[in-house]
Amino acid sequence: MRILSGIQPSGKLHIGNYFGAMRQHLALQAENEGFYFIADYHAMTSNPAPADLAARTLEVAMDYLALGLDAEKTVFWRQSDVPEVTELTWILSCVTPLGLLQRCTSYKDKVAQGLSPNHGLFAYPVLQAADILIFDSNLVPVGADQKQHIEVTRDIAIKFNAQYGQTFVLPDEQILKSVAVVPGVDGRKMSKSYNNTIEIFEPESSVKKKVMRIVTDSTPLEEPKDPETCSIFALLRLAAGADELADWEAKYRAGGVGYGTVKKRAAELLCEYFRPYRQKRQELEQNRDYVEQVLTDGARRARAVASETLRRVRDAVGLGVMRHAQSR
Ligand code: ADP
Ligand code: TRP
Repeated sequence: MRILSGIQPSGKLHIGNYFGAMRQHLALQAENEGFYFIADYHAMTSNPAPADLAARTLEVAMDYLALGLDAEKTVFWRQSDVPEVTELTWILSCVTPLGLLQRCTSYKDKVAQGLSPNHGLFAYPVLQAADILIFDSNLVPVGADQKQHIEVTRDIAIKFNAQYGQTFVLPDEQILKSVAVVPGVDGRKMSKSYNNTIEIFEPESSVKKKVMRIVTDSTPLEEPKDPETCSIFALLRLAAGADELADWEAKYRAGGVGYGTVKKRAAELLCEYFRPYRQKRQELEQNRDYVEQVLTDGARRARAVASETLRRVRDAVGLGVMRHAQSR
């Protein structure tokens, strides 16, 4: 089964990205043909400074490799190294009803947050559809927030196939049954755009500081507390073993435990969880040529598939081929 997913280099990757998406991406590579890429074209929709875009792309690559992406088995590349995808985006744009994009909630949300929308942001789901369809992907593991984009992809593929004949494989989404949404240090969803993240590879001292500063309610130490609504408990859920978690849950419900104690343990567990990957991350940092080489090699393998699909698509729509003209 070919599985494909992309992640935007819109900032440093955080533990929400890891537990919500990356961990499953990495687990899925063993049994499947994995196609993973860094979506730098998508990140352009928020107009990053050129140096930031380039640096973050490399950082995402190093994070994935440090956390166990197997670059021999899995095809791993930088989206913009496979420009075929932008040509397919244009072709798909021409069968995409405007209303389909107008209904996309992630676009509407960003506009509601005050982002001044450019055409790229509006057309973002079409580029995502091209990413998916150009690789004949069977399964797209994404967080729940991306479900609608996969549905849009299917709608576009169905419309294209109906108009031009069977061309695209219809992908299924696999909504990652992540842990629930990982809360940020301010209690909102952890997100690169909210400045509330705990980065996967920030120094342990800073992870600890951030966890200690997480906002909690003011329930006094001796009173029972609700694990379901507590951000600290949500962090324990990610990194504690089942027995320890059950233990903390009982303590919450019984009362008598203070948030400070729980925070300390949560920070410790998070640091322990990522500690084994830190050294590899540091080695990669010192060996950027290797990282670049992995991406170049990935792009070569990805392009071989993408150019083949694009040839099929161009042929189907009558671009650059004589077949349609001759058959008239
Ligand atoms: P961000 O909001 O930080 O910009 P992205 O939108 O780039 O993150 O998300 C990349 C992947 O990480 C997606 O699959 C998304 O579902 C997942 N993800 C992001 N934030 C969280 C979170 N707080 N909890 C769980 N999963 C998350
Ligand atoms: N939009 C996705 C996100 O923000 C990233 C992405 C781009 C993607 N292209 C994709 C995910 C194709 C899955 C498949 O998380």
